[in-house]
Amino acid sequence: MLEIRPLHSLFAAEVSGLDLSGALDEGVVEQVRDAFQQYSVLVFRDQDISDDQQIAFSRLFGDLEQTRAGAADAGGSLIRLSNMGPDGAIVAPSDKQVLNNKANQQWHADSSFKPVPAKASLLSARIIPSVGGNTEYISMRAVYEALDAEMKARVDGLVTIHDFDYGRRKIDPDLVSAEERAAVPPVRQAMVLDHGAQGKSLYLGAHCARVEGWDDAASRGLIDELMAFATEARFIYAHAWKPHDMVLWDNRAVLHRATPFASQTEQRLMVRTTIAGDAATVEPPD
Ligand code: OGA
Ligand code: MN
Repeated sequence: MLEIRPLHSLFAAEVSGLDLSGALDEGVVEQVRDAFQQYSVLVFRDQDISDDQQIAFSRLFGDLEQTRAGAADAGGSLIRLSNMGPDGAIVAPSDKQVLNNKANQQWHADSSFKPVPAKASLLSARIIPSVGGNTEYISMRAVYEALDAEMKARVDGLVTIHDFDYGRRKIDPDLVSAEERAAVPPVRQAMVLDHGAQGKSLYLGAHCARVEGWDDAASRGLIDELMAFATEARFIYAHAWKPHDMVLWDNRAVLHRATPFASQTEQRLMVRTTIAGDAATVEPPD
């Protein structure tokens, strides 16, 4: 029996009573899709699944994104977030994998740097450290809802520029190669997304470099002010991973970030699938 238990007063729920390794009947899938729309973050515990089973479950929500050029699994539909080499040994702090994990400690929405950004991400915990290495989520719908009328009027209709290199550069100026940069040029995104019956959300995060048509100071001023508000504790659900947890989240409705752990002494392996979006967030410019 499928059960849904809220994990936070504003969003996020645990879904229990399901075995995601096998086929689900269509009625159950519909209930999970509805819960996803409502809660933005769904937690499934005790799901000891293979890569192929994770892909099959993810496909119930749409087509999967291909991993970006330059990434370790480029061209496939799985992203392995790990601090280990192929032999299981922990890699150096300067390793690209570790730097990418560090970049994930900035609040972000997956693939917001793509012209059609990701709808959802599904992350499964394969190996987790004993302390830290959590993933935190902000309900950007609750954040938008909590803005005062004046701020809502200011942000509605704004267009932002999202740039993969922008956030990565803060971690290490050489983290994104010229080739990778060329594959993901800056894109335009709406600052406010409209989810119809579910309300609106603010669409920001580490890839959000500036407001289109604004100078740097004004851009940074507004984005920083909004992020300072969004990161108030009341909007955050912190997920403490247990082995075999899976978390599905709506990248258009939440921001997320990884929290630090002892990455030189403890192993962490997470596997992600990403469900592609179906529409751009803005009309192309005239
Ligand atoms: C991701 C991500 C955070 C984490 O998989 O997209 O940002 O805690 N992960 O590993
Ligand atoms: Mn991410």
